[in-house]
Amino acid sequence: MSIRLDGKVAIVTGAGGGLGKAYAKLLAARGAKVVVNDFGGKTDGTGGSQGPAHQTVDEIIAAGGEAAADVNNVATQDGAKAIIQSAIDAFGTVDILVNNAGILRDKSFHKMELSDFEAVIGVHLMGTVYCTHAAYPVMRDKEYGRIVCITSGSGLFGNFGQTNYGAAKLGIVGFMNSLKQEASAKNVFINCVAPLAATRMTEGLPLFSEEAFSYIKPEVIAPVVAYLASEACTSSGDIISATAGYYAKAQIVEAEGFRVPLGSDVTPEIIASNFGTIADMEAARPYPNLVEEIKAALAPVMS
Ligand SMILES: NC(=O)c1ccc[n+]([C@@H]2O[C@H](COP(=O)([O-])OP(=O)(O)OC[C@H]3O[C@@H](n4cnc5c(N)ncnc54)[C@H](O)[C@@H]3O)[C@@H](O)[C@H]2O)c1
Repeated sequence: MSIRLDGKVAIVTGAGGGLGKAYAKLLAARGAKVVVNDFGGKTDGTGGSQGPAHQTVDEIIAAGGEAAADVNNVATQDGAKAIIQSAIDAFGTVDILVNNAGILRDKSFHKMELSDFEAVIGVHLMGTVYCTHAAYPVMRDKEYGRIVCITSGSGLFGNFGQTNYGAAKLGIVGFMNSLKQEASAKNVFINCVAPLAATRMTEGLPLFSEEAFSYIKPEVIAPVVAYLASEACTSSGDIISATAGYYAKAQIVEAEGFRVPLGSDVTPEIIASNFGTIADMEAARPYPNLVEEIKAALAPVMS
């Protein structure tokens, strides 16, 4: 099966460098017309320059692809609307949205200014929401869309110094989990990728040797994004962890749990003495939506 995106219009936010640039270049190489968005700032979200978005566009065009630059800010409603409008103006529509733009303001929570928290939520979570909100009506009307959001192991599993980033990145998963319920009937699918790659965001992390760093290039993540952005992808609501040589679905699951007879008293002591069973993940399972989880939790009452 060959994955082609001919005739499709894609927007990749934050595509002036790092992972987004690799995504934009691969989508274009597979035939998509790509809007390369990037406000061109520093990793902490300050500054701004038109250069990076135009540089990616130049590289795509030099390789024989089609692309247009956009330098709007995903973290404002007007900026997000303007990004989607750029796609409509340049290429007539939008079929694919990759919500990739991101910043970091790492600090341990007790040292973190709330403005650092809000800035990170603003770009990652609200940027994803604003761009999706602007693109979604176009996708619904045409009954076709592929939305790829970028989450992080920091949100899925937690990471020291990243309460703001982790909250934003898991917020994106919550956003996806509900939007997938609404969008599937219109052939609009939304999935998440949790990448790990050598970019300016991760340089200097003590976790990696130089050798490891040389393998985890953005180009090894881009094929996952290209697949999720294609017609070949018919799943929605998946989270795919991706790094060099490793591609795996991640999922939120719930334990089988502990039950007391319905109507009987429950005390903190009963919870304490059964906490091992409550927290036993041996038979944990995922649920496709909240209704199915409620049915399982309240099975004795509902049957
Ligand atoms: N590098 C990793 O290992 C890793 C791991 C997990 C998640 N991610 C996520 O992948 C995405 C890309 O990160 P990266 O590592 O390539 O970092 P990067 O800093 O190289 O790329 C982020 C890009 O987003 C742009 N950007 C930031 N704020 C913007 C805004 N408000 N509007 C428009 N553009 C904006 C930046 O200018 C930059 O080019 C981010 O969402 C990041 O959180 C990266």
